[in-house]
Amino acid sequence: MLLTEQSLQNSSCQYLPPQNPAQKPLSTNQQLLPLTARVNDRDCLEIGGCDVSALVEQFGSPLYILDEYTLRSACRQYQEAFAQFYPGESQIIYASKAWNCLAVCAIVASEGFGCDVVSGGELYTALKAGIDPKHIYLHGNNKSRDELQLAIENGCTVIVDNHLELELLVDLAKTRSNAPPIQILLRLTPGIECHTHEYIRTGHLDSKFGFDPNQLNDVFSFLSQQSGIECIGLHAHIGSQIFERQPHQDLAGVLVDWWQKAVSYGLPIQVLNIGGGLGIRYTESDDPPTIEEWVKAACQAVVQACEAKGLPLPKLMAEPGRSLIASACVTAYTIGSRKVVPDIRTYIAVDGGMSDNPRPITYQSLYRAILANRMSEPFQETVTVAGKHCESGDIVIENISLPTTNPGDILVVLATGAYNYSMASNYNRLPRPAAILVHEGEASLILERETYEDLIRQDRLPARLMQNG
Ligand code: LLP
Repeated sequence: MLLTEQSLQNSSCQYLPPQNPAQKPLSTNQQLLPLTARVNDRDCLEIGGCDVSALVEQFGSPLYILDEYTLRSACRQYQEAFAQFYPGESQIIYASKAWNCLAVCAIVASEGFGCDVVSGGELYTALKAGIDPKHIYLHGNNKSRDELQLAIENGCTVIVDNHLELELLVDLAKTRSNAPPIQILLRLTPGIECHTHEYIRTGHLDSKFGFDPNQLNDVFSFLSQQSGIECIGLHAHIGSQIFERQPHQDLAGVLVDWWQKAVSYGLPIQVLNIGGGLGIRYTESDDPPTIEEWVKAACQAVVQACEAKGLPLPKLMAEPGRSLIASACVTAYTIGSRKVVPDIRTYIAVDGGMSDNPRPITYQSLYRAILANRMSEPFQETVTVAGKHCESGDIVIENISLPTTNPGDILVVLATGAYNYSMASNYNRLPRPAAILVHEGEASLILERETYEDLIRQDRLPARLMQNG
C-alpha cells in the first residue's frame, strides 16, 4: 500500500525497516521490527510473508512470531564479520538461554553455530535438536554432578566456573577408564565494568561467576597436574545489552594476558572465548553498534594483543544470544479492557503480560508496540499497556503513542525474541503462549500453546485431600 511521509512518521509504520534493496544489509540488532516486516493492502502488518492478524486468528494470542529470515541474517552477519576480521580460526556459539527450544537450536546449528547451554535442560534440548555435541558448551556457576555427567558422556565441552566443579570433574574423569581427557574451558572474572543493568552485569569482580584473578595461579597449577582434565581455553563474559565496544576490547587484552600466564604452567590453551553481550535496539533511543562493528572491534583487539605478546592467534569464540534473536521476534496480543483515570492516564489491557515477558517488571526494560491491524492509522493518544496479571507492576509499556484502540485490536510488542519465552512463567496459571516460525508465507508451529491440562500435569492430589464424589 502507498504510504505517505506523514503516515510513516506518526503511525506504526515508522518502525518498519527501510525498504531500499540497494542499501547494505541492515544489521538486525539495530532494527525494531524483523527485516521482512511489511504492510499489506489490508493495512495489516506482515512478517515473513504472513499477516499477523490472520496468525492470531489461527493460533490465538498472546503469540510469539519468529521470523526465520531475520534470525538467519543475524547468524550470517556474525559469520561473515568473523571471516572478514579474524585471520585465525573462529567458532560462534549461540547463547541459548536467550531462547532455548528445538526449532531455534536447529536453525542456528544449520547456520554453523554451536550452542552454549547453562543447565541439563538446555543441554538436553540442544542434543535433541541435533546440535553436534562437539559444539555444545556447558556453562553454569553450580552445575550438578548429573549435569556434568550428561555433558561429558555426550562429548560436550564444560566451561568450568569454580573449584568444586573442578573436583567433581577430576572425580568423574576417574570413572572413565581409557577415555580421552575431559576438555574444559575456564571461566574467569575479568574485572571489567560496563554500563548495563546491574542484574545483567557479570564481568566486574563482585560477581558470582568464574574464577577470581587472585585464584588463577592456584587453578593453573592444579590443572597442570591433572591427567583426566585438559584445559583447552579461557572464557569470560562481561554482561549483556552493551552498547560500548571498549569493554570487549579491554577483555581481549585481559584474556591474552591470562593465556600467557596459563601457557607458562604448560596448559594446552588454544581457545579464547569472549562471551556475548552486544546490545540491540528496543526503542529509537538505543544505539548499539552493528554486529559487524562489534565483531571487528573485538577481533582486532585480540589480534593486536597477541601480536604484542608474540603469541599465535587462538581459536576465537564468541557466544551472542540477544543480538542474534531478539529482533527476529515480536509478540502479538489482543487488546481487551480500557480504564481511563481522568487527568492521570489511560490503561489498555492485553491478554498476556509479565508471564510471557518478565523483562519490564524485572529490569524496567522499555519496549515499543504497534497496532498490527491498522498500521498506517495516525497515533492519537498516549496510553499505558497493562498486562492481565494480578499485580500493579504488570505493565508492559508505560506511556506509548498509539491510534485509538478498540477491544479485539492486535497489539504487537517489538523485539521480544530474547529472554521472553525463555523467562516466561505460569504466574496466575496463565498457559504459556504458542510460538510460530514464519518464512516466505508459511507459518509453522514451534511451541504449542499450553493448555489448562498442561497446567495441572505435574499436580498431585494426595488421596486424603480428594473431595468425596
Ligand atoms: N555468555 C554468558 C556466559 C552469559 O551469561 C550470557 C548471558 C551470554 C553469553 C549471552 O549474552 P547476550 O549476548 O544475550 O547479551 N535475562 C537478561 C539477560 C541475562 C543475560 C545472561 N547471560 C535480560 O533479559 O536482559
